Amino acid sequence: MTSTSAPSGRLAIFPGSFDPLTNGHVDIILRCAHLFERVVVAVLVNAEKQALFSSDERVGMIREVFREYPNVEADTFGGLLVEYARQRRASAIVRGLRAVSDFEYEFQMALMNRHLEPSLETVFMMPAEQYTYLSSRLIKEVFQLGGDVRGLVPAIVEQRMRRKQESGVPG
Ligand code: PNS
Repeated sequence: MTSTSAPSGRLAIFPGSFDPLTNGHVDIILRCAHLFERVVVAVLVNAEKQALFSSDERVGMIREVFREYPNVEADTFGGLLVEYARQRRASAIVRGLRAVSDFEYEFQMALMNRHLEPSLETVFMMPAEQYTYLSSRLIKEVFQLGGDVRGLVPAIVEQRMRRKQESGVPG
């Protein structure tokens, strides 16, 4: 660490699957938007058969939720996260830490990403307490079993989940 000069226009990448975006994600993105000049919510494109929403649908919903936040952008990425971060000239990767149980996996990923790209920092942020038990996986499960997910995901996401269920698309 020799240089202390900070590049201007610091950009953070908040990567994830976001299937679907939860209010816990929204909480972290808003915190991130206060700390960084720009935030890219980067949706991993993969061919996961169990996915409820396509990556384009996820990006569309994120854009709608943050349409009044000019410094929040949504995009897709594939391949290595550090490659995408290089292309976007990002200063940091942001990840949410909900509980101690998240730590081991997150620590491994952060150190692997640092090994691959030493100049890229991973920043961990904690969501508000009321969101610490939320995960996309649990929300999908509860919804598919007829549970109420209002208040756990943005209203737009809840509407799209219902629409998908009504159209009989398996998720
Ligand atoms: O929300 P998730 O599913 O926990 O996000 C995981 C994600 C997308 C951040 C991680 O799987 C990832 O970065 N994938 C891209 C491929 C990659 O770079 N793998 C090496 C990570 S050390």
